[in-house]
Amino acid sequence: MRILGIETSCDETGVAIYDEQYGLVANQLYSQIEMHADYGGVVPELASRDHIRKTLPLVQAALEEANLIPNDIDGVAYTAGPGLVGALLVGSTIARSLAYAWDVPALGVHHMEGHLLAPMLEEKAPEFPFVALLVSGGHTQLVKVENVGKYELLGESIDDAAGEAFDKTAKLLGLDYPGGAALAKLAEKGTACRFTFPRPMTDRPGLDFSFSGLKTFAANKINANLNSEGILDEQTRCDIAHAFQQAVIDTLIIKCRRALQQTGYKRLVIAGGVSANKQLRADLAELMQQLKGEVFYPRPQFCTDNGAMIAYAGFIRLKNGEQTDLSVSVKPRWPMTELPSIIE
Ligand SMILES: Nc1ncnc2c1ncn2[C@@H]1O[C@H](COP(=O)(O)OP(=O)(O)OP(=O)(O)O)[C@@H](O)[C@H]1O
Ligand SMILES: [Mg+2]
Repeated sequence: MRILGIETSCDETGVAIYDEQYGLVANQLYSQIEMHADYGGVVPELASRDHIRKTLPLVQAALEEANLIPNDIDGVAYTAGPGLVGALLVGSTIARSLAYAWDVPALGVHHMEGHLLAPMLEEKAPEFPFVALLVSGGHTQLVKVENVGKYELLGESIDDAAGEAFDKTAKLLGLDYPGGAALAKLAEKGTACRFTFPRPMTDRPGLDFSFSGLKTFAANKINANLNSEGILDEQTRCDIAHAFQQAVIDTLIIKCRRALQQTGYKRLVIAGGVSANKQLRADLAELMQQLKGEVFYPRPQFCTDNGAMIAYAGFIRLKNGEQTDLSVSVKPRWPMTELPSIIE
């Protein structure tokens, strides 16, 4: 079975092909980041228009990369939500039309299930059950995963997602959108202990997160440390980035430890854009060593949005006999716990 996957939920057009026998045989990605950087964030209408321009050429490129023709494709998976409604509609309409023309089944995939299953594409893939920490631009969630579709939400952010907090703080530090990775680079040159940021919501039980206060804390620190010309010196910039990053990481680590204790699981999966953060990976590795457990990640390229994770999640569910009918409907908001379990 060979599945074409199409991802257009936000500002990346991703197209990939997953082959049951050979694994991932094509992976094409076009990022709109440069286009949106001028505006300091994603402009939904521009995102939709660009997906229209890029999706079909990327489908063509993916088929060429895998040396396949449309006849070789057994199903088309596409991101049906959550995400920007216009962007989702572009991918869904194209995917649904291709499936109709090629006379194969189509399936609307949940974007966060795509992120959650992305580590399955790696050589070191996790076995079920596990706790998943999903940390992306729009989500921070701890999920108890018993199997594909058997999800229990243990906790989530009550305000900004971790990636969103990285991006907003990066903006305050004068970095371009999305500044998460650039902030992490600055943090590498920062000194520990000069500033101490709070670890939000860790002083009470529970597994929810709150990151919006950290951005305000950073803004106050920046303002308090401007020199007489109103400029933040380079070392202070790096020190604030370091303190902010460590506060987010420590908060995530504390909640992961709790989630693992609560479930009794020994495996932790981490996915979504923030899971590319090197310091987070190092600190989680240390946590799992202490707990005598194991941590699993997607390769950095598959932490952020991509078509590979949609092709894979689509493959698992299409193989299970699921498919979406001819109508094109998307779900900008869609709790992952509504998904059917593939094993009862
Ligand atoms: N090294 C890094 N350290 C911290 N954050 C990072 C790093 N690399 C990427 N990010 C952040 O990851 C986020 C993008 O991740 P992703 O593409 O998974 O999110 P999204 O698709 O926008 O959101 P969602 O999946 O919730 O809809 C951005 O906020 C970005 O700043
Ligand atoms: Mg995403």
